[in-house]
Amino acid sequence: MRICNGWRRFIFYFPLIFIIPLLFSVLELHQNSTVEELHKKHTKKFDHLVLGPAAGHGLRDRLQCRGLKALNKTHFSTPSNTSNVRDTISFVTVFAIYNTSHSTVVDSRTSDLVTVGSTSYSKVERSMAILNVFINFIQVSMPQSSIFILTDPASDLSIRRNSVTVFPIQGEYSRDKLMLQRIRSYIAFLETKFEEHSQMHPHITHYIFTDSDVAVVDDLRQIFHDYPNFHLALTFRNNKDQPLNSGFIAVRGTPDGILRAKVFLQEVLEVYRSKYMKASRMLGDQLALAWVVKSHPLFDAKRFTRPQAFLEEIRGASVLFLPCAIYNWTPPEGAGQFHGMPLDVKVVHFKGSRKRLMLESWNFFSSASCSDISDMLCLVLKSGRTKYDF
Ligand SMILES: *[C@@H]1O[C@H](CO)[C@@H](O)[C@H](O)[C@H]1NC(C)=O
Ligand SMILES: *[C@@H]1O[C@H](CO)[C@@H](O)[C@H](O)[C@H]1NC(C)=O
Ligand SMILES: *[C@@H]1O[C@H](CO)[C@@H](O)[C@H](O)[C@H]1NC(C)=O
Repeated sequence: MRICNGWRRFIFYFPLIFIIPLLFSVLELHQNSTVEELHKKHTKKFDHLVLGPAAGHGLRDRLQCRGLKALNKTHFSTPSNTSNVRDTISFVTVFAIYNTSHSTVVDSRTSDLVTVGSTSYSKVERSMAILNVFINFIQVSMPQSSIFILTDPASDLSIRRNSVTVFPIQGEYSRDKLMLQRIRSYIAFLETKFEEHSQMHPHITHYIFTDSDVAVVDDLRQIFHDYPNFHLALTFRNNKDQPLNSGFIAVRGTPDGILRAKVFLQEVLEVYRSKYMKASRMLGDQLALAWVVKSHPLFDAKRFTRPQAFLEEIRGASVLFLPCAIYNWTPPEGAGQFHGMPLDVKVVHFKGSRKRLMLESWNFFSSASCSDISDMLCLVLKSGRTKYDF
């Protein structure tokens, strides 16, 4: 039927009209991609940057983009706001890498290589690149802060960067135990810091424990300044089964804050061990975290439905709940609805197969075609739902 065909053709070409100008604006990033290729590979995992429409179009408080140019400047803390914030921050992440001769042989097979920009990465190099970009973003957004990398003493991690300390902690860092070990390492780290306080009375440093696949895109010292009464902070989203993400935990660096955060995490570890050992290796800690929070008799889970920060006393700790939309931003994968990117987004989380996008974003940010971080956020917004080959 003619009419039908006409419609089919229209529906088929309509998205292309959007994609063509975008392709040109990022041509240097992936000269080989063609529109046909984008369509053919629609269901596959992509090995190059793919841009879609920017969600949140027309919403006043969401980032608006024209191509990869941001029409709004995102609300970055001005120097006048932060000059009176004297707190220092250390980021803490768990990272282990095993550079055995075996993995080197496997990695050298071309099928295991991925290429981003003009660089090819083996599996090990990919993880190292993510870690380095994680450090890069922190050093751009919060140049005064330091970074601790908690790792297996047996791990072959050699990293020489300013303000970065590799901090070995004994434990079991195998893939299937990594989430459990991560909480243990956080606890061990907090114990060390607590000891330091009782012995040396150091200057107060706050801690932010994060996954290493996040980009910090704004100054986070504001949290400790704006909410002076919390011991630890978690990020939440409106998701009934997994309201809490464990990829971002802030801890106030006072002896009291460190101690209460440590006791809270010990509680989470206990629940993980007793209830969620069978959960998928990625989810146990989040389920345990949610269990500890929701088991509190006065806790109102309805508060997770509104993206507004709130404070709650849980197991002796004053816990600040921060919306993922700002402190742990990730678009949903697949077809779920989402409403774009808030202008005051502070942390972008490149979960799962979005890790390629993290490297692409850094490359774009460092390139001449990107004028500031708002432009880079347009790239993330338009590409955040794509499944990549990482
Ligand atoms: C963001 O930019 C768009 C397009 O220029 C504009 O309509 C909107 O009002 C801006 N939002 C804010 C909060 O300034
Ligand atoms: C930052 O500074 C501006 C202008 O001085 C002020 O309007 C705003 O309330 C400040 N924000 C915070 C979080 O202090
Ligand atoms: C892994 O080992 C090789 C050879 O010893 C070395 O060149 C490479 O830098 C190591 N990679 C990491 C991530 O340590």
